[in-house]
Amino acid sequence: MPDERLPLTDPQMHQAADRFGTPLYAYSAAELDAALNRVRTAFGDARLWYAMKANPNLTVLRRMAAAGVGFECVSLGELRRAVKIGAQGDSVLVNGPAKSDEEYRLGAELGATFILDRAEEVALLPPASRVLVRVNPGLEVSTHDHLATGAERSKFGVRIGEVGSVLEALRSAGHHVRGLHLHIGSAIRDAGDFGAAFGRVAGLRDVTGELEVLDVGGGWGLDADLPGIAARAREAAAVFGAQLWAEPGRYLVARSGVLLTRVVGHKATGRDFTLLDAGMTELLRPMLYGAEHPVHALWTGAPTTSDLAGPACESGDLLGRDVTLPAGGKRGDLLALLDAGAYGAAMSSSYLTRSRPAEVLWDGSDWTVMRRREMAEELWAAEE
Ligand SMILES: Cc1ncc(COP(=O)(O)O)c(C=O)c1O
Repeated sequence: MPDERLPLTDPQMHQAADRFGTPLYAYSAAELDAALNRVRTAFGDARLWYAMKANPNLTVLRRMAAAGVGFECVSLGELRRAVKIGAQGDSVLVNGPAKSDEEYRLGAELGATFILDRAEEVALLPPASRVLVRVNPGLEVSTHDHLATGAERSKFGVRIGEVGSVLEALRSAGHHVRGLHLHIGSAIRDAGDFGAAFGRVAGLRDVTGELEVLDVGGGWGLDADLPGIAARAREAAAVFGAQLWAEPGRYLVARSGVLLTRVVGHKATGRDFTLLDAGMTELLRPMLYGAEHPVHALWTGAPTTSDLAGPACESGDLLGRDVTLPAGGKRGDLLALLDAGAYGAAMSSSYLTRSRPAEVLWDGSDWTVMRRREMAEELWAAEE
């Protein structure tokens, strides 16, 4: 059992599930702080931006803001969340491959920095915008295809060969070029991929000249060698004489959160299933890109293997395959899916008119409700 990765104790998890019901996202404030400390230790005085897509809960955002972290926003809704928590324009980045007019407008109103994703945007940006140019380094990276954003075939960024002309176009259009940006993907397994990508971008120095900023994105695996990645990033930033920016999402929040779910029953067809009260509507990552979440059972027994199936009428509604659990789990027994603080609650949906789960935070002495469980009436309110 991966107990060393547990952000909460078994009694804490039992207490949360009994008090708030399941499925439930439970987070540890201490682990949120610890993750940020690990990043700060590795990246030193680099400026940090939280990719809020990983977990946009207002409580998480307020904690990040209080710790001096800025926000990378990729939708109007995310920009509004930044406004809601009082983030100032110089702590907001506006990103996305297909920004809307409203996103440009609100970004400009805030005085945010835009991350340009394609040449066409030069003409779409609000006048005198502050801009980073996202570079597509054209590299295969070690992650699921849906998570790879720096590959030549991915839809993101400006190709290396076009960066010079885009910079020129931006400058002649009166925009303020702050620097370059790259983000090669998420949940990247081989830290060597970062060094390779940073190196490719550093090769643009002759084209760009000195720059104010190099933003190296996020995408670090949870066990990644952060000091190693940070060292490569610093080297690349130094090539441009630039300040280093980093933009992690998952790393900052994943370990702090668990999805608590109860056993509903068992079933054998061609395979053995443990049926749970949580599934794809609460945690989409396994179905969306084959993510494997460590599982911690809160009962004991000899090890046995089964698939973890959710309650949705969808064959793909599996939270794990061939998962080792203690035998004898009964209806109502509690199970925690670990590393669920990122892209868990954020991607939960009301498909099948299921209420999105509550989210609670353990601050070391008590629980705070970060988001209450959705009520059925809220799910059809916009239809009446
Ligand atoms: C541009 C950009 N920056 C940062 C991130 C954060 O990635 P991760 O959560 O893997 O650190 C993402 C994730 O999709 C992204 O698209």
